Amino acid sequence: MIVLGVETSCDETSAAVLHDGQILSSIISSQDVHEAFGGVVPELASREHVRLIVPMVRQALQKAELESSAIEACAVTYGPGLVGALLVGLNFIKGFSAGRNIPYIGVNHIEGHIYGTFLSNPDFAFPVLFLIVSGGHTQLVLMPSHLQYEIVGETIDDAVGEAFDKGAKMLGLGYPGGPVIDRLAADGNPEFFEFPRALRRHDNLNFSYSGLKTSLLTFINKNPQTFIQENLSDICASYQAAAVDILIEKALTAARSFGCPTIGLAGGVAANSRLRAKLQQKCAANGSQLLIPELKYCTDNAAMIARAGYEYLKSGHFSAGNLNAWPALRLGLNRSFESIPV
Ligand code: KG4
Ligand code: ZN
Repeated sequence: MIVLGVETSCDETSAAVLHDGQILSSIISSQDVHEAFGGVVPELASREHVRLIVPMVRQALQKAELESSAIEACAVTYGPGLVGALLVGLNFIKGFSAGRNIPYIGVNHIEGHIYGTFLSNPDFAFPVLFLIVSGGHTQLVLMPSHLQYEIVGETIDDAVGEAFDKGAKMLGLGYPGGPVIDRLAADGNPEFFEFPRALRRHDNLNFSYSGLKTSLLTFINKNPQTFIQENLSDICASYQAAAVDILIEKALTAARSFGCPTIGLAGGVAANSRLRAKLQQKCAANGSQLLIPELKYCTDNAAMIARAGYEYLKSGHFSAGNLNAWPALRLGLNRSFESIPV
């Protein structure tokens, strides 16, 4: 089955073509209009998606060396995300599939991230305990089989990616903050300052990042600017360690308590070098298998959406024409294939 995937949930416009779950092409355009604002501006994101969606799909088809008539089914993110941004991709795919009389399926963006990790690691066995870390999500998810998700822990306030982005903003660094902090932290001492690690009790699989952000703000306000600038790498390394180490601790605890020999890592923050290295070390030490996405599948892309969609499509699940965008869609609640035909 040849599947066209489209992803427009936030600030990446992406299209990909997959053949039986294997990538033929994957094109991503990251919108840089938001940099000046220090965060994604929803209205600008929608407008950029409108401008880019048709050229991106054309490029993906060209790179796959296929005509649009070769596409047999489509997959598109319908939530969670920015409503205006989601609607651009969803309506494009509705038009494309209606015009060609082929099926399409709405995919949960987070489910896409999970299948992005499977794209890089096709050899694994269920169950898998996933650590999902992105700009909007921080969750521990138990997957007993394909397309089955049980959320066993999650953040009670901010996502870890948000802690990276807001932390970078407070330090006067650019957006998105995760890659900048990661880069500066490489030359810093993670033990320079002890930022708080929240909800550390072993029987609690939830996370909290609002206290970490507040403690960085307090630290910045208490110290002169020159001191902050002179010790920027050490501050970034210490902040990153506080953000990341608790993720590793809890993922390992969850895998142990659910008797799960395989851990999966997914989402934009999966690109973080400390998280990748430490999790690899720990899993190697305790004999767990670690499924880690290649860097190109960490941040938002349509290949992961097409891969997840393929899992639904090959078992005959597809969406009706009245499927709507669902900005706060939760993992495990994908019922896009149950939308009622009108
Ligand atoms: O998955 P993603 O592209 O979008 C969402 O679904 O949210 O994740 C974006 C997030 C941003 O918060 C960004 O700062 C973070 O991933 N990120 C990183 C790194 N690269 C991206 N965080 C830490 N270290 C990185 N190297
Ligand atoms: Zn994402």
